[in-house]
Amino acid sequence: MPDNTPAAQPAPVRIAQITDTHLYADPNGALLGLNTRRCLQAVIELALQSGGADLVVASGDLAHDGTVEAYRQVRTCFSRIGAAVCCLPGNHDEAGALREHLNQNGFHSIRSRCLGAWQLVFLDSTVAGSEGGHLAASELEALDAALQDRPDAPALVCLHHQPVEIGSRWLDTMKVDNPEAFFAIIDRHPQVRAVVWGHVHQAFEQRRNEVMLLATPSTCLQFLPGSEQFAVEQIPPGFRWLDLYPDGSLQTGIKRLPQMPGTIDLSARGY
Ligand SMILES: [Fe+2]
Repeated sequence: MPDNTPAAQPAPVRIAQITDTHLYADPNGALLGLNTRRCLQAVIELALQSGGADLVVASGDLAHDGTVEAYRQVRTCFSRIGAAVCCLPGNHDEAGALREHLNQNGFHSIRSRCLGAWQLVFLDSTVAGSEGGHLAASELEALDAALQDRPDAPALVCLHHQPVEIGSRWLDTMKVDNPEAFFAIIDRHPQVRAVVWGHVHQAFEQRRNEVMLLATPSTCLQFLPGSEQFAVEQIPPGFRWLDLYPDGSLQTGIKRLPQMPGTIDLSARGY
């Protein structure tokens, strides 16, 4: 008798992208009334209840105040997950301090990493003293080299700033200011399957050719999609899960807390 049972799909590796945690040195530190440490702890518990992760991508604005003590808080909170945490800086971080304090004991500030059949590439899009993003020639060269090194490995590219407009004028003044150079490299390497970022504190999904372009909610405050100017949205925080399959396909989605983790000060005109 022929066996007509469909072959089981090989198991994926699971990534949790947890971003824009905005922790302070002071564990009571709050962003517009939301205690950012408690928000992160709640999102991490949600990630654990959702099956955990093989690897965490922490895509910037990990510390709001860029202090060594805030990075200690980041380590303490993320250690609960029990998976490697790959970190990259955002505009609120002190990139040097982040690399120094988030690069040991399960935390990695690195250029690339293999996970299953995949290659993950991490870029620094920050500009000292600026909220906006830019990919320096050295970052672009490193991206090109990493992708050239492993042409057969499906690739996920991670950075902090959005490389495309997301339709929110005030946030789009702070996107990567040289996206053409970035996408020229992506276009040369057809193994790139997705680009993920933080910074915009909201979910976003678009396709560019065969590449998924993905933004992820912050673990604390959410910005109102489509807004011309600074505005927050009262929607619970969360994280993005990505299941990466050996054949280069991927599935992804957002999981949010069941309710708001605190009360937002809606009178704020900025953060
Ligand atoms: Fe942020």
